[in-house]
Amino acid sequence: MKIVSQPEELVHFRHTLQGSVGFVPTMGALHNGHLSLIKRSIAENDHTVVSLFVNPTQFLPSEDLSTYPRRQEADLKLCKLAGVDAVFMPESGHMYSLVEPTLCAPETLGYALEGLRRPGHFDGVLRVVLKLFNLTQPTRAYFGKKDAQQLYLIQNMVRTFFLPITIVPCDIVREEDGLALSSRNAYLSPQEREDALKLSKALKHASRLVIQKEFHAKVLECTMLDTLAPLHVDYARVLRRDFTPLERVELGNTLIAIAAYVGSTRLIDNLWM
Ligand code: PAJ
Repeated sequence: MKIVSQPEELVHFRHTLQGSVGFVPTMGALHNGHLSLIKRSIAENDHTVVSLFVNPTQFLPSEDLSTYPRRQEADLKLCKLAGVDAVFMPESGHMYSLVEPTLCAPETLGYALEGLRRPGHFDGVLRVVLKLFNLTQPTRAYFGKKDAQQLYLIQNMVRTFFLPITIVPCDIVREEDGLALSSRNAYLSPQEREDALKLSKALKHASRLVIQKEFHAKVLECTMLDTLAPLHVDYARVLRRDFTPLERVELGNTLIAIAAYVGSTRLIDNLWM
């Protein structure tokens, strides 16, 4: 497995590859959610490149950039074991310069839901993902449905900038008890770990109601808030998959999304119906 830290080196390595290239961008501290993306890329492509880069431009000044979990050694071992061809782990100074054009997420979506609480977050995500795409020039790139809004905005960027890349959405990987895997779960105390189950329980409860033909978005949202109490809920919404609001669930085109604080840790989860 090749370990690359310089952007130009990645471009050079990419040009030596024949056939399809799968790309899995991550911020490291890899867990089975990340690994499911990596394994899928390996199964579907001739080569797989993984990036491990805690991207500073997507963190707000108040967020956890300095404490975000970093486990380089373990991440490299996991990638090697999985059969990854190359890992790109650049330094921030090699990815950004002091004077450069930036990229803004569309205002309507970039600054709603996740973007409302984290203004500018998606600008930073799109900016780094575009740079990573340009360096890796993948055939396919793999993103988790866990970050549904990120996935949608990246699909939108690829479509509107005519990037010749297929975005592959991947299912959410969960612990046995339902908690969606996240690098930020590492922050949870044992009690908080227990409380965090309220997110997946609220989603499960809402989906059970839908199966019983309760299609009113407002009713489902209120039920989720009940299940989530007493957590501090950022949002619990029933939306179309393009993030436009709806009154009644449209099966096959609906996203149920939650963000809530468990202690000081902000967790997100969602369900596609
Ligand atoms: P990160 O949070 O490390 O996530 C990397 C990828 O793993 C994302 O596509 C995310 O949706 C996916 N992922 C995380 N948890 C998952 C789970 N439980 N099941 C399935 N997939 C999961 O998302 C980012 O990094 C960054 O914003 C990035 C795109 C790398 C840009 O910096």
